[in-house]
Amino acid sequence: MSHILGFGGYAPERVITNDDWAKWVDTTDEWITQRTGIKRRRYAAEDQSTMSLATAAAEVALKDADLTPDDIDEIVVATDTPEAMTPDTAAFVQHELGCREVPTYDLGGSGCAGFIQAIDVARARIAVAPKRILVIGVELISKMISQEDRATAVLFGDGAGAVVMGPEGGKAEIVDAVTGTDGASAEILTLAAGGTKRPFNEESLLSGDYNRLVMDGRKVFVEAVKRMSGASMDVLRNVGKSISDVALVIPHQANKRIIDAVGKKLGIGPDKVFVNVDEYGNTGSATVPFALWEAVNQKRIKEGDFVVLTAFGAGFHWAAAAVQF
Ligand code: ACO
Repeated sequence: MSHILGFGGYAPERVITNDDWAKWVDTTDEWITQRTGIKRRRYAAEDQSTMSLATAAAEVALKDADLTPDDIDEIVVATDTPEAMTPDTAAFVQHELGCREVPTYDLGGSGCAGFIQAIDVARARIAVAPKRILVIGVELISKMISQEDRATAVLFGDGAGAVVMGPEGGKAEIVDAVTGTDGASAEILTLAAGGTKRPFNEESLLSGDYNRLVMDGRKVFVEAVKRMSGASMDVLRNVGKSISDVALVIPHQANKRIIDAVGKKLGIGPDKVFVNVDEYGNTGSATVPFALWEAVNQKRIKEGDFVVLTAFGAGFHWAAAAVQF
C-alpha cells in the first residue's frame, strides 16, 4: 500500500512569453501557440540550480503533509537536468533540506516519464519496508539546452513538483502503476554529448552539440499520443476500472495538441483532462507532479475522485498511475 501524504510544486518567478522569444529567434507567438498551445514558460534565475527548484517544491510538499525533513526516510529525484554530473541531485537536496543521512538516488535521464517511474519505484520500496519517501520531478532546462535552437528551446520551461509518499494515511492512494520502455527509440530524442559515447570536449563545444537536443518532433508526437493513451488504459484494466470511472486525467504537459489527442483517444471530454502547458511549457519530469499539485490546489480533484497520471518522454519511456483520492 502506498499513499500520498502531501503535494508540492514550485515555478521560478521569471516569465518568458512567446513575444520574448520572437525578439531572440525567428519565431512568432502565432507559430508557437498553434503548434504547441504554449503561451508562457518560467525560467530560473541565474543563482538558482536544479537543487534549489527541487528543494522549494519539497518544502511545500512537506508542509502539506505536516511533516519535517526529519520524517523523511528516502529521497528520489527524477531529472534530465541534474545539479551536477555526479553525485545525484537527490544528495544535494537531502543536505539542503536538512534531512537525516537517509539513502537518496536519482532517476537520471529518465525523460518526461521520470516522475511516474519514480513513484512506481517508491511504491516498491515502501512494500519492502514501510517508510516515508520524498519523490521529486524537477528540470532546469533553460540552462541545459541551446537557446538558439528555435525548434526545441521554445517548448520548455523550468519547474519542480514533489510528493511525500508513505505506507498509510494521507490524501490519496496510489493503487497501481504501469511503466514501459522502447530503447530502440533512444536516439530519436537525446542530448548525447557529455556522456561517455560523446564526451564533453573541445569538439562538442565548438560544434554546439554539447547543449543541442536532438528530436524528431513528429515521431515524438505520434508515440506520445499512442503510449500515454495505451498506458492509461493498461493501468485502468489492471485495477478493474473503466475510463468512465475517471474524474481527471493528468497527462505530461508537452504540447496542447498531444494532450487533446490523448483525451480524444481515451474518449473523454476536455473537462476531464488537466492542462497548464499554456502557462508553464514543457517542464519535463516536473510537469506531472506540478500539475497534480495545481489540480489539488485548484480543487479540480475532490475526495473520492479517481485520477490517472500519464507521461511519455525520452527513452522512449512511458508510464501511468492510478490514484484514488
Ligand atoms: N518558430 C517558427 N518556425 C519554426 C519553429 C519555431 N519555433 N521551430 C521550427 N520551425 C519551422 C521548421 O524549421 C520548419 O520549417 P521548414 O518547413 O521551412 O523546414 C517548420 O517550422 C515546420 O517544422 P516541423 O518540425 O515540421 O513542425 P511541426 O508541425 O512538426 O511542429 C513540433 C513541431 C511543435 C515540435 C511538433 O512536432 C511537436 O509538438 N512534437 C512533439 C515534440 C515535443 O513535444 N517534444 C518535447 C520533448 S518530448 C516530450 O516531452 C514528450
